[in-house]
Amino acid sequence: MATKAKKKAKIEIENNEDPQDKPLAVMPTEEEAPEVKIEDLPGVGPATAEKLREAGFDDLLALAVMSPGDLADQAELGEAVATKIIGAAKKMANIGGFVSGGALLERRREVLKLSSKVQSIDDLLGGGFETQALVEVYGAFGSGKTQIGHQLAVNCTLPMSEGGFDGDVFYIDTEDTFRPERITQMARGHGLDPDAVLERIHVARAYNSAHQMLLVDEIKRMSKGLNVKMIIVDSLTSHFRAEYIGRGMLANRQQKLNRHLKDLKQLADVNNALVLVTNQVHSKPDAMWGDPTKPIGGHVLAHASTFRLYLRKAKAGRRIARLVDSPNLPDGECVYQVTQEGLRD
Ligand code: GTP
Ligand code: MG
Repeated sequence: MATKAKKKAKIEIENNEDPQDKPLAVMPTEEEAPEVKIEDLPGVGPATAEKLREAGFDDLLALAVMSPGDLADQAELGEAVATKIIGAAKKMANIGGFVSGGALLERRREVLKLSSKVQSIDDLLGGGFETQALVEVYGAFGSGKTQIGHQLAVNCTLPMSEGGFDGDVFYIDTEDTFRPERITQMARGHGLDPDAVLERIHVARAYNSAHQMLLVDEIKRMSKGLNVKMIIVDSLTSHFRAEYIGRGMLANRQQKLNRHLKDLKQLADVNNALVLVTNQVHSKPDAMWGDPTKPIGGHVLAHASTFRLYLRKAKAGRRIARLVDSPNLPDGECVYQVTQEGLRD
């Protein structure tokens, strides 16, 4: 699945005439090495391979990054078998140790950038929203987090030549705020066929935090045959916040959240996809603790996100996005608007 998606993306890049994308086209492709299937792993017979596929594991990388307990659970295998499979996958996928800076650079070259179609936002992000990254969008209620989620979902379906990924989107909606009508308006704003766009956005309502976490496994299962390029969780933290109340629950909550973020990051890496999560800020300015401009989720989320965007409203219907703590870009701000057709300069 992941390899297929990656190959598809590469083929499209090769057909893309934008000279900016040229370096990608000369990258060595996986076709040069014979592809190793999960059946080729020692100890994996047809029945086990079938179980693994059913649970959504159909390439070595997806297996190599699992923990034995989780793989045993998800694929209904014994833990000893799971351990063996993971060990073998690590060896054969050749990701079991340190890699050279050059190899990392090569992997970074696979990174694609999704355009927001708003020049000021793309500039702030050095060209757009990166794949293999987890982007956190946080801000007060009504600051426009859900609008960004909807807009990027639409943009993800745009062809590569127009700044999109020609990709499929998974949208985990925890607050029941996904609106297909809004997608329709934004699709029209780009001159796209709204029905075709809606067809590529796969939405699930998460009823509680446990369900939200399970839906990530469901994405792995459902992604076969799709070109998964974006996963949105809107909002990442609302269920966790509502369910784990009080100081005594904090450690437990952070542990679960950490696990959830790791699963999401893994989806981003395996599919060369972008993960976008939204997050509220502390809502009570008068509370004893909790800075009202600080995102909730604490250090766990701060460390997990590659990029953090802080949104706020400004005068005359304008919005401000601030880039916070980026690993390779300067902090800065940009101004944009939310219109009926979507985000605009
Ligand atoms: P919470 O989920 O409550 O924390 O808020 P949020 O940050 O997700 O806010 P959201 O993205 O839902 O932003 C809502 C705001 O977007 C509204 O207050 C409007 O200002 C704007 N908005 C939504 N739809 C439209 C539209 O069709 N036209 C215009 N002009 N603005 C819109
Ligand atoms: Mg929202």
